[in-house]
Amino acid sequence: MKTAITELFGIEHPIIQGGMHYVGFAEMAAAVSNAGGLGLITGLTQRTPELLAKEIARCRDMTDKPFGVNLTFLPTFSAPPYPEYIAAIREGGVKIVETAGRSPEQYMPALKAGGIKVIHKCTSVRHSLKAEQIGCDAVSVDGFECGGHPGEDDMPNMILLPRAAEELKIPFVASGGMADARSLVAALAMGAAGMNMGTRFIATKEAPVHENVKKALVAATELDTRLVMRALRNTERVLNNKGVEQLLEIEREKGKSLKIEDVHDQVAGVYPKVMIDGDMDAGAWSCGMVVGLIHDIPTVKELIDRIMADAERLIRQRLTGFLDGAGQRPAAARAMA
Ligand SMILES: Cc1cc2nc3c(=O)[nH]c(=O)nc-3n(C[C@H](O)[C@H](O)[C@H](O)COP(=O)(O)O)c2cc1C
Repeated sequence: MKTAITELFGIEHPIIQGGMHYVGFAEMAAAVSNAGGLGLITGLTQRTPELLAKEIARCRDMTDKPFGVNLTFLPTFSAPPYPEYIAAIREGGVKIVETAGRSPEQYMPALKAGGIKVIHKCTSVRHSLKAEQIGCDAVSVDGFECGGHPGEDDMPNMILLPRAAEELKIPFVASGGMADARSLVAALAMGAAGMNMGTRFIATKEAPVHENVKKALVAATELDTRLVMRALRNTERVLNNKGVEQLLEIEREKGKSLKIEDVHDQVAGVYPKVMIDGDMDAGAWSCGMVVGLIHDIPTVKELIDRIMADAERLIRQRLTGFLDGAGQRPAAARAMA
């Protein structure tokens, strides 16, 4: 399949693995890139720019396909040394960066001077337009369903994607709630040139996380995520667990007076406990509603091949079937999960 995104990034399939804290190590990124998608190392999971340089080198040993780095601009006063992280990316010869969080505007000159293509992930049409205006090459449009930070507009992809298509000139991928061929074909129909998946890629053989995490994703349903930190305007969609229930209880008690210190134990340092130790009750870690569509733990290649084969069948048989008057039983679409 050829789209503006496969052309832009030089990849075979229009499928991106979004940056994921404590998941986006070299093993994850390389597996996705080797399967023809675009894998991303999560920059800030590496505690220093030097460690990121090593992770990039490790990934290069595992794949000769294009891969990228996610740089998340956090709402924090003690910002990580972003210029040094960008230097590590440039010196490592990485040509694709996914930015997220705050606008990457101040770092665009450094990224562009390194010949880097920038895809900015954002949750609204106005932020997408801003990304286009400051010279981003593409946008990842992240709907309310998404795992992680959906923003504060609560706009689901069924509306957000066609709205983005109405306004944007640069290509965009659909992010949030994407799991299978049905997601991809729907995203393409709504104007996207591909899709970005987070949660779905964690339930794969190669994802470098504890088995408990993968099993929890298969066991969970679409009703099992929660929104936390709304009062802080730092909303995050997470998988429910005992730590999250405590967090929500504190939020109920404190109401509008909630401060980040109040929920420190339930949000700080949780990722290594979950992803490395497999402690599933540790607290808040990002997970999308799409968890309800995750029923197995395939290899990354099996997942991507299945998506592309099913997408072709969906388009050639189910969709053109409607036009030809042949139609198709709903079961056919159900099977393409
Ligand atoms: C465990 C986890 C950690 C994440 N960490 C980050 C991150 O550090 N930076 C970022 O930009 N996005 C992060 N995300 C968001 C993903 O890149 C992606 O945008 C999101 O998962 C898409 O929604 P989906 O989970 O429905 O596919 C994370 C998502 C998950 C599930």
